[in-house]
Amino acid sequence: MIPVRNTQNDGQRGAAALVEVRDLKVTISGRQVASLPDLNLGPGECVALVGESGSGKTTSLLALLGLLRASDCAVSGSVRVCDVDVLAASPNQLRSLRGARIALVMQSPQGSLNPTMRLGVLLRHALTLHGIKGRPALSRIKLALDSVRLQESILRRYPHEISGGQAQRFGIALALALGADIIAADEPTSALDVTVQAEIMALLQQLRQQQGMALLLVSHDLALVSTVADRVIVMRDGQVVESGPAQQVLQNPAEPYTRELLAAVPTLEGAK
Ligand SMILES: Nc1ncnc2c1ncn2[C@@H]1O[C@H](COP(=O)(O)OP(=O)(O)OP(=O)(O)O)[C@@H](O)[C@H]1O
Ligand SMILES: [Mg+2]
Repeated sequence: MIPVRNTQNDGQRGAAALVEVRDLKVTISGRQVASLPDLNLGPGECVALVGESGSGKTTSLLALLGLLRASDCAVSGSVRVCDVDVLAASPNQLRSLRGARIALVMQSPQGSLNPTMRLGVLLRHALTLHGIKGRPALSRIKLALDSVRLQESILRRYPHEISGGQAQRFGIALALALGADIIAADEPTSALDVTVQAEIMALLQQLRQQQGMALLLVSHDLALVSTVADRVIVMRDGQVVESGPAQQVLQNPAEPYTRELLAAVPTLEGAK
């Protein structure tokens, strides 16, 4: 696979964390809905957020992207993404950060693509917003599509004319074309069938290994998490219950809640 990301960024990578979170707390209408006491994510690493529905996983990701701006929402602590202080950043700084450094990949990507725009227009529009135009934009688009193994003919289609797996690949291509260092993926495979799930995860793994892309993964699929994550953060009711290396948390959990979550994973034996 050919690296697509901007080589100008390479000097800033290395050992430094791409994401550093300390004492993050999110309250909505006075109720704490998410917290992350401590999170570090370096190049090529994967940190997974797991926990029951409503535990605060999506809200945590949105806080990292500076997307929690409603008046009844209070975010405290420290969030640094690619050396930008997200909680103090201006709207312009956040716009430059999102997409170009940290990209969000959602469960149903078609829903987040403008249905009235062909995919090619959409891609060019996103690149133009980040100041990438003309020939450099075209070559980035070509490389990004190659990396996710999509044909260029897809650029003529509208979002409703592609499958869920293609839409997910397109979302990842968009992140690659913009040169993102980090993908924040919120249940990226749960709307896909198992073979396409495996393809998308293999693609994300390849991007980590070959391009040093860091992955923040939200997933209910603990079997998947155990195969891809370096570290796991277990959340419940807006709090972190347990965190640590994936092997330790998933194979030798310290907390009863983590054991409950693991025990709830269906097995083929259990279905008999
Ligand atoms: N805009 C909002 N207004 C009020 N409450 C909200 C808002 N967004 C999220 N919440 C609440 O915050 C809590 C955490 O929600 P969040 O979406 O982060 O959970 P989650 O762990 O991603 O769940 P799921 O696995 O179902 O996606 C929930 O109780 C939710 O109702
Ligand atoms: Mg969620």
